[in-house]
Amino acid sequence: SLLDVVVNNNLDFDGYGACEGTLTCSTCHVILKKEDYDRLPNDPGEEEMDMLDLAYELSDTSRLGCQIT
Ligand code: FES
Repeated sequence: SLLDVVVNNNLDFDGYGACEGTLTCSTCHVILKKEDYDRLPNDPGEEEMDMLDLAYELSDTSRLGCQIT
């Protein structure tokens, strides 16, 4: 997932991925360009949508990084 990329490369995004991909936070929120959003192979599931509702500055092209595979 995108979260794995951040973790595996020791990218220093403070607090990113606090729940380690268990869909209990929204710290991995990313806002994608429309063309990138449309290219993702999976749509957000119901649990992801619920967590996205809590995300800061939610947009039409928001996803949770831990769910982007
Ligand atoms: Fe917590 Fe993605 S890391 S929801």
